[in-house]
Amino acid sequence: MQPLRVRGFEIYKACLDASKQAALVEELRGVLAIAPLVRPVTPSGREMSVRMSAAGRLGWITDRNGYRYSKTHPNGACWPPMPGAVLNLWHTLVDTCRDPDCCLINWYGEDARMGLHQDRDEGNFDWPVLSVSLGDAALFRMGGPERGGKTQSVWLESGDVVLMGGAARLAFHGVDRVRHGSSTLLPRGGRINLTLRVVEL
Ligand code: SIN
Ligand code: FE2
Repeated sequence: MQPLRVRGFEIYKACLDASKQAALVEELRGVLAIAPLVRPVTPSGREMSVRMSAAGRLGWITDRNGYRYSKTHPNGACWPPMPGAVLNLWHTLVDTCRDPDCCLINWYGEDARMGLHQDRDEGNFDWPVLSVSLGDAALFRMGGPERGGKTQSVWLESGDVVLMGGAARLAFHGVDRVRHGSSTLLPRGGRINLTLRVVEL
């Protein structure tokens, strides 16, 4: 499958078909029953509009003590294992035998967004970040390595996968808005984004 290339981001449109998306959502239900979504707070005390959880060896969390990776959910429990379907996807698209350490789960309701940011809490940037979109479509903005540079946006739909590697690994990116009700995958609407990362702490 040939990706669409935008500013070094590789976008695989319709990478997961409808039945694979539904199977992945089923696996995620099991994960979220053990590690419930929480509404995180930034180090400055601002509530984020997305809700978050994670699977794998480490989860990315944020609270008054900062942005970081943690071996446990904020409730103290270990994160559940990473869904097999996302691990398979990682090994299909990324040329490495290394497993990712973290599958971050972001849930976007109607008014949720994600400001432009870089993914840079990992100990190593040699591996790409792999991002999976499920549910409602999202307007994804991609920039370069500097804040304030030129950006370009695409709509990510359910089943689309983005690889951020090479120059795009430390590029700014964010989600401006979600088109509520544009997908029927999640019965009550909303969007799930999964990001797989090697953390190597
Ligand atoms: C993120 O960069 O953390 C999320 C990207 C997305 O939701 O597509
Ligand atoms: Fe990100």
